[in-house]
Amino acid sequence: MAGQILNMQNISKSYFLGDEEQVVLQNVSLTVKKGDFIAILGPSGSGKSTLMNMIGCLDSPSSGDYSLSGQKVDELDESELAAIRNKEIGFVFQQFQLLPRLSARQNVELPLIYAGISEKDRKKRAEEMLERVGLAEKMDNRPNQLSGGQQQRVAIARAMVTEPTILLADEPTGALDQRTGQQIMELFHEINKEGKSIIMITHDQDIARNADRIVHILDGRLREEHA
Ligand SMILES: Nc1ncnc2c1ncn2[C@@H]1O[C@H](COP(=O)(O)OP(=O)(O)OP(=O)(O)O)[C@@H](O)[C@H]1O
Ligand SMILES: [Mg+2]
Repeated sequence: MAGQILNMQNISKSYFLGDEEQVVLQNVSLTVKKGDFIAILGPSGSGKSTLMNMIGCLDSPSSGDYSLSGQKVDELDESELAAIRNKEIGFVFQQFQLLPRLSARQNVELPLIYAGISEKDRKKRAEEMLERVGLAEKMDNRPNQLSGGQQQRVAIARAMVTEPTILLADEPTGALDQRTGQQIMELFHEINKEGKSIIMITHDQDIARNADRIVHILDGRLREEHA
């Protein structure tokens, strides 16, 4: 299908505790096209983070097919998985996950170091990205010298600086108050308008409503909401 960047078909994931099989994802199918803004909405324990780990190629399914940007993920080895992850996906987490000893700029530069970009270009791209998220004045601050909302902006800049196809966010507003959370959603809308796909995992209905598509997850099964 044209513009399709992610295709999951009948993905299942089980864990075994002793002999007992626990099914955490059951026949999950999901397609994402370029420019989609999707929320995956579900309660605690429904399988959201497990699904995020699958989408982000951090964990592999027990069965089913997953293609990301035309590549079959189950055919990739560890280093190919790391490469596709770095190229296609920018991760944003609830607790920001910034390195505390590094400045905002250094945090944003990190993925560019892994990508082998020269120091001069790294600095320039990190600064441009921090300007875009509204942190031109805070580039030299360390995370503990920033508010929660500002830290999440740094994390978003870090996720976007490699120009991934998909921004994948797990409870991106979970550690923020409602107003700051909504400001982060404004930033997501801007990023989405530039053509990036966003997959956002949340348990918060109001946050989910920012997306164009809402997919409910309950007991490891997906159900698409139709407007
Ligand atoms: N490594 C594991 N081994 C066994 N069971 C697991 C493992 N990881 C997750 N689970 C189980 O899978 C289910 C889904 O967990 P998951 O972390 O995906 O939920 P979640 O929707 O992200 O919840 P929350 O909103 O609390 O973060 C839970 O019942 C959990 O106990
Ligand atoms: Mg979770």
